[in-house]
Amino acid sequence: MRETTAKLEEHRSRSELGGGIDRIKTQHQRGKLTARERLAILLDPDTFEEWDRFVEHRSHDFGLDKQKFLGDGVITGHGKINGHLVFVFSQDFTVMGGSLSEMHAKKICKIMDKAMDVGAPVIGLNDSGGARIQEGVLSLGGYAEVFKRNVIASGVIPQISLIMGPCAGGAVYSPAMTDFTFMVQDTGYMFVTGPDVVKTVTGEVVTSENLGGTSVHAIQSGVVHGRFSNDYDALMEIRRLMDFIPQNNREHQPLKTSPAITPIPSLNKLVPENSQHPYDMKELILNVADDGEFFEIHKDWAGNIITGFCQINGQRVGIVANQPMVLAGCLDINASRKAARFVRFCDCFNIPLVTFVDVPGFLPGVDQEKNGIISHGSKLLFAFAEATVPKITVITRKAYGGAYDVMSSKHIGADVNYAWPSAEIAVMGAKGAVEIIFRKDIDDPEKINAHTNSYQEKFANPYIAAKLGYIDEVILPQDTRTKIARSLEMLQNKHIMTPWKKHDNISL
Ligand code: HXC
Repeated sequence: MRETTAKLEEHRSRSELGGGIDRIKTQHQRGKLTARERLAILLDPDTFEEWDRFVEHRSHDFGLDKQKFLGDGVITGHGKINGHLVFVFSQDFTVMGGSLSEMHAKKICKIMDKAMDVGAPVIGLNDSGGARIQEGVLSLGGYAEVFKRNVIASGVIPQISLIMGPCAGGAVYSPAMTDFTFMVQDTGYMFVTGPDVVKTVTGEVVTSENLGGTSVHAIQSGVVHGRFSNDYDALMEIRRLMDFIPQNNREHQPLKTSPAITPIPSLNKLVPENSQHPYDMKELILNVADDGEFFEIHKDWAGNIITGFCQINGQRVGIVANQPMVLAGCLDINASRKAARFVRFCDCFNIPLVTFVDVPGFLPGVDQEKNGIISHGSKLLFAFAEATVPKITVITRKAYGGAYDVMSSKHIGADVNYAWPSAEIAVMGAKGAVEIIFRKDIDDPEKINAHTNSYQEKFANPYIAAKLGYIDEVILPQDTRTKIARSLEMLQNKHIMTPWKKHDNISL
C-alpha cells in the first residue's frame, strides 16, 4: 500500500509542476501567475476538485513522444465562488505554450459537458499559443468540439472567459462566443492573425499590444468586456461578477422582503436646470443600487451607454442607461451593439432589466450611416422588444424620436414606465423641430425664439405621454429606488407566452 501511495504522490507532484520550475520562473518574470496559482485565487479556499490531472497527449510526431506533461497543458475541474458551484479550466502556458492538443480539448469538453448536466457556469482562463501545431488537424478538431459546446451552452449556463496571455488564431472564437470576455492588461492579447502575418499580408508593422491588447479590444473593438491591470485583480473581479449572475437559465432568485420606502433627496438635484447641460448617469445608478455596488460591463467602450449589474432590494438586475456625459447620450453603432448584447444576456438568464433614459436620438452622420447604424440600431430595438424578463424604464430627461421607442418604451413591451418631472418626451428637441416646421421663419430670430418656447412648453415634459398612458407614473427622482423595488416585487411572477418559433432572426 505504501508503494502505491508513493506512486500516486509522485504522479501528483509531477502534475503540479506543469512545464517545470524554469518555465514557472519565466511565467512569473512576465508578471503572470501560473495556471494553478490563478485557480487558487479564483476559487473559494479548499473547494477545487481537479479532474484529469494525469491526462497526457497521444501524439508521436515531431518529437512529441518525448515531450509529455501530466495534465497536458490545462488544469480542469470544479470549485466554488462565494459558495456557488463553477466549472473551470486554466491553460498552463508552461506546458508547450498552453497549446491545445486533442487531449487538452477533451479535458475542457468534459467539464463543459458536466457543467451543462448540473447547470453551473464555466469559467475559462486562457493563456495559450493556440492549436498544438505538431498535432495538426487533431487539435483543430479539438477546438471545434469546444466551439460546438460553447454554442450549445449559450443561454443555458453563463460562460466567462479571461484572457491572461496569448489567444490567437481560430482560438479567439471560443472566448468570443462566451457571454463575457475579460482581459489582463499588458499580458493578454487576442488576434485572428498575429503581427508577423499582418506584416506579410498587408505590410503593416504593429505590436501585439497594438493589434490585440486591451487598448484595442477594451476601448476600440469592444471584443472584450473589461480590462484589469494584473492577474490578481482580474480574478477577484470575476469573483465579484459571479455574485450578480445566476447559475443557469432556470434559476429564479427568491424574493426578498417588501422594500422599505427610502427616499434619496439628492437625486432631485441630479438633472441640471438647463437641459443642454450634461450630468453623470452613474450617480443615479449608484444611488439606486444596493450598497452602491455596480459591476459595469464594457466600461471603456461606447461610454454613451452604460451597461452592468447591480442588486435592488436584493434582486439582481441588469442596468441599461444612456450617459449624457458622452456624446450627449446619443445612440450610435457601438452603443446599440453593446446594449443589445447585454439585454439578450439578461433575458437568457432571467435577470430583470432596468433602463434609465436620457437620449437625444440616434447619432447623425455619414460615418454612422455608411457603417450600418440602421442594422446595428435595430439590434437594440429587437433585443428590448423580444426580452420577456421584467422590464422597468425610467425617463430622467430626453426621450426623443426613434430612440424613445427603442429604449424599452411601453410600446415595445416594458412593464412599468416611469418619468421624472424633468422628462421631455417628443419627436425631437425644440430647436430641430422648429427649424423644420417653421422653415419659412428661419431668418427671423424673434419668431423662431417664440416658436421654440411654445414647442418647449408644449412638448418638453412627460405629461402628454402620461395622459396617453405611455408613462404609468410621473415620479419624484427621490422615489426612484423605491418605485423600482416595488415594481420588481410586483413582476416577480411575470410569465409571457410567445408564439412558437425555432429561433428569431435578429438583425445580426
Ligand atoms: C505547439 C507551441 C505553440 C503551439 C507555443 N508553443 N505555441 N507549441 N503549438 N501552437 C511552444 C513554443 O514552441 C515554446 O516551446 C513554448 O510553447 C513557449 O513559446 P514561446 O514562443 O517561447 O513563447 P513566447 O515568446 O511568449 O511566444 C508565445 C506565442 C508564440 C506568441 C504564442 O509561441 C507563437 O507565436 N506561437 C504560435 C502561435 C500560433 O501560430 N498558433 C497556431 C494558431 S492557429 P519551447 O519548447 O521551444 O520552449 C490556431 C488554429 C485554431 O490556433 C483553429 C481553430 C479554428
